Amino acid sequence: AINIRASYADELVKTANTIASPGRGILAMDESNATCGKRLASIGLENTEANRQAYRTLLVSVPGLGNYVSGAILFEETLYQSTVDGKKIVDVLKEQNIVPGIKTDKGLVPLAGSNDESWCQGLDGLASRSAAYYQQGARFAKWRTVVSIPNGPSALAVKEAAWGLARYAAISQDNGLVPIVEPEIMLDGEHGIERTFEVAQAVWAEVFFYLAQNNVLYEGILLKPSMVTPGAECKERATPEQVADYTLKLLHRRIPPAVPGIMFLSGGQSEVEATLNLNAMNQSPNPWHVSFSYARALQNTCLKTWGGRPENVAAAQEALLVRAKANSLAQLGKYTG
Ligand code: 13P
Repeated sequence: AINIRASYADELVKTANTIASPGRGILAMDESNATCGKRLASIGLENTEANRQAYRTLLVSVPGLGNYVSGAILFEETLYQSTVDGKKIVDVLKEQNIVPGIKTDKGLVPLAGSNDESWCQGLDGLASRSAAYYQQGARFAKWRTVVSIPNGPSALAVKEAAWGLARYAAISQDNGLVPIVEPEIMLDGEHGIERTFEVAQAVWAEVFFYLAQNNVLYEGILLKPSMVTPGAECKERATPEQVADYTLKLLHRRIPPAVPGIMFLSGGQSEVEATLNLNAMNQSPNPWHVSFSYARALQNTCLKTWGGRPENVAAAQEALLVRAKANSLAQLGKYTG
């Protein structure tokens, strides 16, 4: 790859492989302040910095989390935040042997000229922000753009998503951050699994076309795909074996083996569903590390158990550890329920 600063190439590959290490995956805890507010509202808490800090402190200080979690994606606020005891959150993660990551996209806005679809902002100033995040301890980044099946997807929306991801990936690598490439194909819709498969093939073909055009080093990226499932409102449901078959077929057709890790999002699946599907995908050897980068499917029970009460912190941390361990076993193909 011609554009990556020579000093970073080795480090990028090392970071990507550390995150894609056996039996481990990513804890996505990069909810924007608005999304974090929704989560807090669900347990009756106000969206204050103190409440966000209390929750994030709980998450990062789960004893033993690093056995199952290799990376944690943070929102910008958290990268600069301390725990309630005044320790830097980044330092707590490093002590846990967890690589700190940072969400660098600036969110979705309407895509003019499309069928009510969206595009992802954040390229302006991304190089200097990425350099600052690296200084602050981040070693990988995430950029989430979405593709909607019910609204198209239009050729325009797919091209914009793929091009934006590729520019972001090149800029991240140039500043020492391993880019997680995440075109989320959203679950919403009544379509069947075949339709998701067809859209996913088109999206990933274009993503890799532009990644190559932007001289992105494949050995130094991670992917965050959606699993291939029927739409959320589709009456015909799929078994974990069906989800695994379609998803692995997609990956085999579209993802070069140079990519070290595939870290799935949970996208609204239940906690157990997300674990079973991951486990099904790891029943035979894959060319890449196939693992998790879940937010909701790791945090849901933990958040409910906490309920904002200090006396529930230990039980909530145990709940997170249960999910993390289950997904760790699923990464190894050894989850039995
Ligand atoms: P979910 O696992 O809740 O889909 O979130 C993962 C994520 O970070 C989406 O960008």
